[in-house]
Amino acid sequence: MMNLDLSQAKIAVIGSGTMGIGIAQLAIVNGHSTILYDLDREKTQQAVDGLHQTFAKLTEKGKLTSEQAQQALSRLTIADQIEALASVDLVIEAVVEKLEVKQSLFKQLATICNDQTILASNTSSISVTAIASAVPHPERVVGLHFFNPAPVMKLVEIVQGLKTTEVLCQSLRTLMLAWNKIPVLTKSTPGFIVNRIARPFYAEAFRALQEQVTTYDQLDYALKQCGGFAMGPCELTDLIGQDVNFSVTQSVYEAFFYEPRYRPSLIQKELVDAGTWGRKSKQGFYRYDEKNQYVTFQPQLITAPSFHADVQVQGTWAQCPHLLERLGLSRALASNENIIQIDDVDLRLSQGESVNIDYPNRKTVLMDWHHHFEQAQAVVLSHNHLCQADDLATVEDFFAQSQIKVLWISDHPALLTLRTIVLLINEACEASLHGVASMEDIDNAMKYGVNYPKGPYQWMMQLGAEYVLATLNNLYAIYGEEKYRASLYLKQYVAKQQCIRADYSKDLKAFA
Ligand SMILES: NC(=O)c1ccc[n+]([C@@H]2O[C@H](COP(=O)([O-])OP(=O)(O)OC[C@H]3O[C@@H](n4cnc5c(N)ncnc54)[C@H](O)[C@@H]3O)[C@@H](O)[C@H]2O)c1
Repeated sequence: MMNLDLSQAKIAVIGSGTMGIGIAQLAIVNGHSTILYDLDREKTQQAVDGLHQTFAKLTEKGKLTSEQAQQALSRLTIADQIEALASVDLVIEAVVEKLEVKQSLFKQLATICNDQTILASNTSSISVTAIASAVPHPERVVGLHFFNPAPVMKLVEIVQGLKTTEVLCQSLRTLMLAWNKIPVLTKSTPGFIVNRIARPFYAEAFRALQEQVTTYDQLDYALKQCGGFAMGPCELTDLIGQDVNFSVTQSVYEAFFYEPRYRPSLIQKELVDAGTWGRKSKQGFYRYDEKNQYVTFQPQLITAPSFHADVQVQGTWAQCPHLLERLGLSRALASNENIIQIDDVDLRLSQGESVNIDYPNRKTVLMDWHHHFEQAQAVVLSHNHLCQADDLATVEDFFAQSQIKVLWISDHPALLTLRTIVLLINEACEASLHGVASMEDIDNAMKYGVNYPKGPYQWMMQLGAEYVLATLNNLYAIYGEEKYRASLYLKQYVAKQQCIRADYSKDLKAFA
């Protein structure tokens, strides 16, 4: 069947709140005649007044000419009655996040509009299949999930309910590309792509805090410095709102019938119960003063040490490109094990082991993964109980020679960055196993929906799928918890090395 041509589609946006007005802005800027409807007429007028101000600012900044702004605004009308939407081609609803409200709205629209009118929901968590179930011709009901702020965020998840036609999804994909968005297609499963795959980013941070291995500010520093994330999980959840983030986790957990991978955190529940919701309540993990400033962790400056230890390298350290050069070490012969021996201390890259349980007989330090060792300012390490204070000082001096600061944390399998990244990869693999989205769309969703520096599959290529699997297997063996069980998809990928479509695998290799 031919794709629908939506380039001239007449659009209605229902709901003039945060999301609705942003979506209306996108529609009119992209040339669509657009009707805005909300139960609250006064609020709608205020939102439209705000849009006039937004356009004035965009004109001032030279992003739009005043003629373009005027033309765009002339395409927008406010409807006082829902009946005014009778002749539109595409309705995008952004009303309250309640199934009954969305169902009854679409049922009402089905009586006003014709059978072909596309009914799209901006829901972030409700099943599109469930919304569609109450509507005649459910094949025209679809999710069109914009991210906040809609005019700025590139990602749009196009959500296919059980009965939504493929043609409709593909047609909306074309429309979103024309709007200069990055559309991804996803099945209507809880959390769609982004809100599902992002769960371990928060969960593993809360877990590290619950297990008292580090502090929230060091954890944020580690994820930013070593993982390359724009924000750490604690400052990010403070920004999102601890209450909002907790309720998303809770809804995904419940929607997956209490799957342990998504179990909410007691640490976060405490914050929510205490009313410490983050920036909006002036306190979350951090405190926010009047100017909204907060103090992030900064490691101390490194003084040039005098370093005399004997250093021997084993293995190629393939997972850590540039590490050996950065540390001024020459490559060693290939070996099954990657070890940098500093006097009698073995320094190893973590593979999900517990430094105390797995290395009971030798002084051992495990190192967290770093996304860019060439430019590393810090490494995260943990040591076993055999290491004495002078051993730790020697290890610190060893890194200080290369201007790298050491952050010590307690014994924590896969430490902080490695653990977060392998669990994000594992979650992506589970989504692939269940056919939620393509690997390419999963990577795009995470890069453009939550600004991750890489997509999970790009990380998998960078780290090597075998190393990711070995890390997960070690975590699973140590904790004995379902949440660390490696996805069958990852196991199959490692076994066959051929799950990735040939064309995308070429792209992915470019990041390796
Ligand atoms: N805010 C976000 O960050 C965000 C991001 C992505 C998706 N979403 C989703 O977008 C939707 C809207 O969220 P929001 O933050 O813009 O909400 P909001 O509270 O800012 O706005 C909702 C608007 O809908 C109107 N409304 C409620 N019931 C209505 C009805 N039956 N008919 C017409 N208008 C009605 C209200 O008057 C209000 O103006 C929700 O489904 C939400 O889950 C929100």
